[in-house]
Amino acid sequence: MLRFPAALEILEADFWIQYNELGGINDGEVGGGSGNALYTKAIQVLDEDMAVYIHDNTDDEITHHNFLNAYLVSQGADPANLDSFRTLMGSTATGVNTALIGKRLTNLTQLTLDTSWWTRYRDDNHNPDLDPAFTFPQAVPSLAIGEHTAIPRTDADTKHKAFLQAIANTAGFHFPTIEQGGNSLYPSLAQRASSVEVLRILISIGPTETMHFQTWSDKAGNAPPVSAVDPVTGVSVTFPDLNSPPFGGELFQTNLIMPEPCPFLSRSLPIVSIIRPTKTEGVANGALTFLTDMGLFKGQSGAFFAYMQGLANDADAAVRVC
Ligand SMILES: [Fe+2]
Ligand SMILES: [Fe+2]
Repeated sequence: MLRFPAALEILEADFWIQYNELGGINDGEVGGGSGNALYTKAIQVLDEDMAVYIHDNTDDEITHHNFLNAYLVSQGADPANLDSFRTLMGSTATGVNTALIGKRLTNLTQLTLDTSWWTRYRDDNHNPDLDPAFTFPQAVPSLAIGEHTAIPRTDADTKHKAFLQAIANTAGFHFPTIEQGGNSLYPSLAQRASSVEVLRILISIGPTETMHFQTWSDKAGNAPPVSAVDPVTGVSVTFPDLNSPPFGGELFQTNLIMPEPCPFLSRSLPIVSIIRPTKTEGVANGALTFLTDMGLFKGQSGAFFAYMQGLANDADAAVRVC
């Protein structure tokens, strides 16, 4: 079961490294890039500490896959290995690690983001586990349509002020969109661990994803309202003022960052503040579908999807034996 989260952490590390090269801090801990000053400045509009947060999140993901793979090997199991799939182009803008151009696992330039987590954690009447058919409203509806880049693809992308801010805002919403996934995945998988040690690993890594999510959901609320059209693709995006009609109120107000309670297990029980969803059936396949639909793997080969599908199927087949 751990091979699937190990592979996901390799994928997470791959895209966080791309963010760190351009908008984080390149040092002895997480290096390779040299920073893109214009992109970094646009990201810092959300918070002046964004660069260090990007760096630290990147560092965390690298340690997650290193640890999980080392643990698998220590138990005589094969580690997750995605090296043969490092084939995607990535950005060629100033600041990237030029040695990794054309050697990325993930694609940050064609994202379609589901930002409904924003309202899912503020709605005290619905829980996706109890209401699988309920549609939680999107925070940034236009990110859910079309393909959006979260990094400058080339230096030309940094030349348009509004578009560059839209790229930085897209990253600002991509961060929590990803991290809320891990925040649900680990407690969901943990319910099927038979080994107490594997359970301990899952419930020890999972809350760090929650810490990432909480930080990023706070910062996303600082994304300035802006509308822009991608000069390359013609796709438009609008970041609304989430504090004004038709947004605003408990569902959208940007300083309401603590999770609202929601129904849990049964509506006959009182509402409670929890991680949601945490249903365990099919969770690995669900996570893979979520990331695929996001466009994170656009350009990847059939062999890549077959490999990831196999790991997800194995994880979903794990049964807790008491
Ligand atoms: Fe992680
Ligand atoms: Fe994470």
